[in-house]
Parts: sequence; structure tokens; C-alpha cells
Amino acid sequence: PSHIPVLCIDGPSASGKGTLAAELAARLGYHLLDSGLLYRLVGLAAERAGLDTAAAALQQPQQAAALGRLAQQLLVRFEQGRVWLGHEDVTDEVRSEAAGMAASRVAVVPEVRAALLDLQRNFRRLPGLVADGRDMGSVIFPDAALKVYLTASAAQRAQRRLWQLQERGESATIKDLLADLEARDERDRSRSAAPLKPAEGALLLDNSALSIEQSVQQVLDWWQASPVLRPSAALE
Ligand code: CDP
Ligand code: CDP
Repeated sequence: PSHIPVLCIDGPSASGKGTLAAELAARLGYHLLDSGLLYRLVGLAAERAGLDTAAAALQQPQQAAALGRLAQQLLVRFEQGRVWLGHEDVTDEVRSEAAGMAASRVAVVPEVRAALLDLQRNFRRLPGLVADGRDMGSVIFPDAALKVYLTASAAQRAQRRLWQLQERGESATIKDLLADLEARDERDRSRSAAPLKPAEGALLLDNSALSIEQSVQQVLDWWQASPVLRPSAALE
């Protein structure tokens, strides 16, 4: 369905992709794809199934194939803001730092990425889609009308993650969060399958010193100026 507009927000952990994507989807009246959530669910499902998700184990072809099958058969339901994995409500657990780490380990496996391909593309429905992740613009929706690569300094991102955890009543130290973020970014950037990097044609947005509203406005300005959305513009 290449006529259905897609707006991609990719970038490193805690840069604000989820917040920005949700706000844009609400204002445009578009569907929303949180692709990181799918990798988090595969990580949780693997743990539940007793699969070893340690990086070394996943380098074994049999382990990678088993994980790919598990991702293919993922039983997820999204219901009124809750996330279900089989019969279990995993809404809170899936947002934890541990789930994010597990996600980044299983996301290295090409079989897992392939298993999630159609599931992600099926989110492309009328009137349009805002997609948040690492490879939305580079792999999943290469024909997107607008690709944004969102970044912020590592220190700023760790600080934001800390506030987010504190809001949920959890505690952590900046030092640990920074180490976690950097380990995850490094794994995301260095993997051979869909590494994290700006997609071709992506517009860079560093929001280290921007408010959420300023970031939203910047992307909306770009969106309105996007020629793909106004095919008649070429005739004007
Ligand atoms: O999805 P991602 O991990 O990239 O980040 P997020 O969970 O959307 O955002 C991390 C935190 O940064 C949230 O608490 C946001 O409110 C906050 N934040 C932001 O998104 N944008 C700013 N310009 C400033 C703060
Ligand atoms: O919120 P945060 O940015 O920390 O994480 P997330 O977007 O929920 O993604 C969790 C992990 O899933 C990332 O560190 C990536 O390793 C992986 N991921 C991916 O490989 N490709 C995507 N499109 C989205 C997430």
C-alpha cells in the first residue's frame, strides 16, 4: 500500500522517539507503530520459553532459528493500553530496562528481524502511520514520505531515562543508566542486520535543548513541506 503515507522516527535509546511519535500520531490522526515493543516482547517470550538469550548463545544457528520461530508465533494482544503475551499481562514488565536489554540482544538475530517484517508493515493503514524504531526508514518503510533521525546527547538521554523511571516509582543511578544506554547503542550500531544509522534521506533532529512541543512543531513543519504528500505540487 505505497500510497499510504508513513512518517518514520528512528534514533538511539531515550532520544524521545516514543513520546514524539505518539504526539505526532495523535495530531495527524494516524496509526502508531512502536516497533521496539515488538522486540521487547520477543525478548520476554524467549525468557518465558527458557531460551538462552545471552549474546554468545544466539550466535549458534540452532538457537537463532528457534528464536526466529518463536518470534514468528508471537501471541500478542494490545487492548485498551495493556499489552498481553499469551495469557499474561506484561504491560509493566515490557517497559523495564531489563526488557530493553533483552530486546537489544534478540534484535541482533536476522531470523527475528525477518519474522517481524510483515507484522510491522501491516500497521500501514489509512489514513497514515507514524513508525518509531531503529530501522523504520532504512528497512521497513524505505518509501516513507518523511524520515527523521532523532538524537540527543548521551548525558541528556540518561537524565531523561532517570526521570522516566522515577515517575514510575523505580530507582536507578545515572551512572548505571548511562552504561546501559551506551551498551545498547553500541550493540544497535554494530550489528550487521539493520544497524542503527540515519536512513538515506533522513532529516536529523537533535533535541538535546528542545522541548517536546518544539520537536513536534519542527517535524510537523517538515511534514507539511514534504513533496510526497503533495504530488500536485510539482504541477503548481
Ligand atoms: O522512545 P525513546 O526511548 O527514544 O524515548 P521516550 O521514552 O519517548 O523519551 C524519553 C523521555 O524523554 C520521556 O520522559 C520524554 O518525556 C522526555 N523528553 C522528550 O521526549 N523530548 C524532549 N525534548 C525532552 C524530554
Ligand atoms: O525505548 P528505547 O529506545 O530504549 O527502546 P525500544 O525502542 O523499545 O527498543 C528496544 C531495543 O529493540 C533497541 O535497543 C533495539 O535493539 C531493538 N529495536 C530494533 O532493533 N529495531 C527496531 N525497529 C526497534 C527496536
